[in-house]
Amino acid sequence: MKVVLKNVNVLNPHQKVNEKNVTILIENGKFKNIGNLTEAEIKDAKVFDLDGKYIVPGFFDMHVHLREPGREDEETVITGCNSAANGGFTGIACMPNTDPAIDSAEVVTLIKKQSANHLVDVYPIGAATVGRKGEVLSPMAELKDAGVVGFSDDGVAIKTASILKRSLEYAKMFDLPIIEHCEDESLAGGAMNESINSTLLGLPPIPTVAEDLIVMRDILIAEYADAKVHIAHISSKKSVEMVRDAKKKGIKVTAEVAPHHFTLTDDAVKTYDPNVKMNPPLRTKADVDEIIKGLKDGTIDCIASDHAPHSIEEKEMEFEFAPNGIIGLETQIGLAFTELYHKKVLSLEQMIEKLSINPRKILNLPVPEIKEGEIANLTILDIDAVWTVDKKKFKSKSSNTPFDKRLLTGKAIGVINKEKIFIDGSFSKI
Ligand code: DOR
Ligand code: ZN
Repeated sequence: MKVVLKNVNVLNPHQKVNEKNVTILIENGKFKNIGNLTEAEIKDAKVFDLDGKYIVPGFFDMHVHLREPGREDEETVITGCNSAANGGFTGIACMPNTDPAIDSAEVVTLIKKQSANHLVDVYPIGAATVGRKGEVLSPMAELKDAGVVGFSDDGVAIKTASILKRSLEYAKMFDLPIIEHCEDESLAGGAMNESINSTLLGLPPIPTVAEDLIVMRDILIAEYADAKVHIAHISSKKSVEMVRDAKKKGIKVTAEVAPHHFTLTDDAVKTYDPNVKMNPPLRTKADVDEIIKGLKDGTIDCIASDHAPHSIEEKEMEFEFAPNGIIGLETQIGLAFTELYHKKVLSLEQMIEKLSINPRKILNLPVPEIKEGEIANLTILDIDAVWTVDKKKFKSKSSNTPFDKRLLTGKAIGVINKEKIFIDGSFSKI
């Protein structure tokens, strides 16, 4: 099957490619011809006239919570992949806080099997400890053989310094990162950021120092073990500063930020809307400003959604008792382009680095190339599309988002991978 993408701008900073207004032929899922098409080649092809839109290496979200196994009423592997494709992603990494946790080869295999025929590539993150309980190391070698691309106890930090040190040492043997949810257990358990707002609203607080303490511990131990630690959903000013300093010293630390942490502050909690409750919580303007600075100067390597589906019955409770988390796969690109690209925080090249290239590098995955002979793994991007979020149009099984009805600029309008295309709301084989 042949597909022609007409009048596209090709941008892949990884290959240092930036070409304007080319036409591309994809045949049987591979780039057949870029730029020099004959009439005979175009014949019988399905042609998409993309009128100046960009094609970039497929976006990758390295922090997604699928709820399979365990809570398939909230998200399955397939609905999560549909949501990812609709949001512009061709690859995701899924976190291990399923039930059971991803702490055995069987669960890894189940997830890989469920996603095998989907356009979206799914890479499970293995639990660092059995049941994510922080007591006994998971069978990391077995998990690696089954296909995990990193280890984490996400939802919580790895419980003790000693087990963190050992998990870093094992992960290093496989050249994989430990991905940390940084939160000191003894300071955890609140419902929102500790600030004047938590006092005024009467909600139990989570102080930024809960995050900072674990970021500090993790950087120290990563330095000691000379191993890779990745800070998930960074949210506090001090944590960004510590990662910046550690990188300067050559410590192998990387970091991601979720769109809500550069878009909103804890002022949003004044609505008591459970859809602004997540962990880490929304912080203050000073934290957001430092995150923006960290994105700009490379301290923060990538943007990841922390897509966390929850059922309506459980999420729509009093703020204090609602579960943490919001879905993010279908709003991430729009929020990132609106807040970072259109506000001139990041260049288009930096956007592609943070949404496609760096997450794959952190997980040791190959970055897709836009080159004749290569598999077509790409996102079609309309950087100027103005659109309004409508959660009714989401492909996710859940709809817990605070961004419904928000006006955004920038949208992924299609994806291609594994001989499939998703465009205009549906999948077809190419
Ligand atoms: O907001 C969050 N939601 N933070 C977490 O750490 C877990 C996640 C979830 O799985 O719902
Ligand atoms: Zn987390």
